Amino acid sequence: MTSYDIASIPGDGIGPEVTREALRVLKIASEIYGFDYKLTEYPFGSEHYLATKEIFPEPAFEEVKGMNAIYLGAIGDPRLPVGLIEYGVIAKMRFELDLFVNLRPIQLFDERFCPLKDKRPEDVDMVIVRENTEGAYTGMHGFAHKGQATEVATQTMVYTRQGTERVIRYAFELARARNKRKTVTLIDKANAVRAQDLWTRTFDDVSKDYPDIKKEHAYIDAACMWMVKNPEWFDVGVTPNLFGDIITDLGAMVQGGMGIAASGNINPGNVSLFEPIHGSAPKHAGKNVASPVAAILATSMMLDYLGEKTASKAVEDCIRELLKTNRIKGVGTAVHPTSEVGDMVVEALKAPANA
Ligand code: IPM
Ligand code: MG
Repeated sequence: MTSYDIASIPGDGIGPEVTREALRVLKIASEIYGFDYKLTEYPFGSEHYLATKEIFPEPAFEEVKGMNAIYLGAIGDPRLPVGLIEYGVIAKMRFELDLFVNLRPIQLFDERFCPLKDKRPEDVDMVIVRENTEGAYTGMHGFAHKGQATEVATQTMVYTRQGTERVIRYAFELARARNKRKTVTLIDKANAVRAQDLWTRTFDDVSKDYPDIKKEHAYIDAACMWMVKNPEWFDVGVTPNLFGDIITDLGAMVQGGMGIAASGNINPGNVSLFEPIHGSAPKHAGKNVASPVAAILATSMMLDYLGEKTASKAVEDCIRELLKTNRIKGVGTAVHPTSEVGDMVVEALKAPANA
């Protein structure tokens, strides 16, 4: 039987609660679909930092490097300096494991979750491929005359040919594999951020290898407008790091809220990281009120990545069915107890129709 080494980092706030449900679903999927895994849990996050001053120690990081996948609940705590734990845990993995694709599907499971008028599931079915190791996130910044009236602050956006090319190529391959609208839309702001001309040229070059895939372009501001006005125009979108961060929160709303949006931070063929897009939501922590749907969908993405395609699809299909039939009535806070949604997905997976 195939066996996978999986690291789990439940993290902060609602992270542990939603991770618990996501891992219950993983366990039952392994029993039904016949694969094995070894789970190693790590305590990293804000509580651990406050108690030990440890963020993500190197020996643990070395262990994680040798695994097949990492599952993360949520990270972030208002008691800590801005960005400390986010950079120390999430960004560290994205950069040091070279997880250059941030894959963010935006899929409407049922009409009633869409805040847009008259949009149906077939109208909202896209994937944003967010570059995940460059752009504004490399941390190159500085201040001069700090605290004075003359203060200057800078942050450098970094784009490399290699980094741009690999993520664009991934987007074209994905559009081909999805076999839906067969379109890749480059989303940038090359008219104002002139360095993104590198994206324009690289996109043109790479697209020549994919004559079967249509190429489109939208500036990020217009792309935000189109996502609300005509989401059906998108199939696969590829975009620099910061724009990808922003547009996928918009996308999460279009598909029904942060409680439903999952993501994969991927380095094809190497250890990759799966997480719901939502944060730690400290005010809801420990109350069993957060929706685990996004977290469970992140499990489905992890299974797909590991090659457990049938199990992955079964988990996603169960969520879709439970949403469509209104058994899961919503993905907001306090619609159902967190654990009850986990129970429903586990039961649906066990039902013979889905086995
Ligand atoms: C995300 C988050 C992170 C990001 C934060 C926590 C650093 O918003 O994964 O979208 O900006 O990438
Ligand atoms: Mg974000």
